[in-house]
Amino acid sequence: MATENYLRRFSRTERALHWVHAAAFFVLLGSGLALYLPSLSEAVSRRPLVKAIHIDTALAWVAALTLIVVVGDRSGVRRTLRELDLFDADDRRWLKGRRAPQGRFNAGQKLNAALTAAFAVLFSVSGFLLWYGERDTRFRFASTLLLHDGLMYVSLVLLVGHLYLALIHPKTRHALRGMTLGTVELDWALTHHRKWAEPRSSAAVSDASEASSGD
Ligand code: HEM
Ligand code: HEM
Repeated sequence: MATENYLRRFSRTERALHWVHAAAFFVLLGSGLALYLPSLSEAVSRRPLVKAIHIDTALAWVAALTLIVVVGDRSGVRRTLRELDLFDADDRRWLKGRRAPQGRFNAGQKLNAALTAAFAVLFSVSGFLLWYGERDTRFRFASTLLLHDGLMYVSLVLLVGHLYLALIHPKTRHALRGMTLGTVELDWALTHHRKWAEPRSSAAVSDASEASSGD
C-alpha cells in the first residue's frame, strides 16, 4: 500500500486566525449587504438589529484576532509576517507569468495577504468613522461610506478568486487540507511551493497527525 508523506503547513494559531477572520468576514459581508441593498433591507425589515449584529461582529472580530495572537504562537506569527513581506526575484518572475519556484506562499498569496490586512485596517477605520460620525457630526464625511462600500466590492472579487482556488481548482484545492488539518502532501508541496518544501522534505512523515502536532 502506498503511503503519502506529509509536511506541516499551518500552525494551530495560523489556522485559528484564518478561520476567525473568515467567519467574521462572512457575517460582516452578509449584514453589510442587508444594510446596503434596498431589496435585502426591505426583506430584513429589522434594520437596527442588523446594524447591531454588524457592529458587534466587528468588535468581536478585532478582539478575537488580538486574543489569538496574544495567547497563541506569537513568534510563529512574526515569522509568517516576515515570509509574507519578502518579495524576491522569483516572486517577481512568477507575477509576470513565468515559471519560478515559490516559497511557503506564492507571490499571488503574498499580495492577497497584504490586501486582506490593508482592507481589514481600512474597513475598521471607515467603520469606526461611520459609527462615531453618528455621535459627532464633525466626523461625518461623505467619502467614508464610499470607501466602506468600495472596499466591500473589491473584497468580493478577491474572495471569489480565493474560494475558486481553495475549493474548486483541481491543482490548488489540496491547500484546504493545510488550512483545516494543518498538513499537506509532500509531493503537492514540492510542486507548488518548492523553495519551502525541498529543504524540509527529510522532515516529512507518513503519519499526518505527527506532522500536524505542535502549535
Ligand atoms: C471593523 C470592521 C467594521 C466596522 C466597524 C463596520 C461598521 C459599519 C457601520 C457603523 C456601518 C453603518 C451602518 C448604518 O448606519 O447603516 C456599516 C455599514 C456597512 N458595512 Fe461595515 N463595518 C466593518 C466591516 C465591514 C466589512 C468587512 C464589510 C463587508 C465585507 C462591511 C460592509 C458594510 C456595508 C455594505 C455597509 C452598508 C453601507 C451603506 O449603507 O451604504 N463592513 N459598517
Ligand atoms: C470558506 C471560506 C474560505 C476557505 C475555504 C479558505 C481557504 C483557504 C486556504 C485553503 C488557504 C491556504 C492556502 C495555502 O495553502 O497557502 C487560505 C489562505 C488564506 N485565506 Fe482563506 N479561505 C476562506 C475564506 C477567507 C476569507 C473570507 C478571507 C479574507 C477576507 C481569507 C483570507 C486568506 C488569506 C489572506 C490567506 C493567506 C494567503 C493566501 O493563501 O492567499 N480566506 N484560505
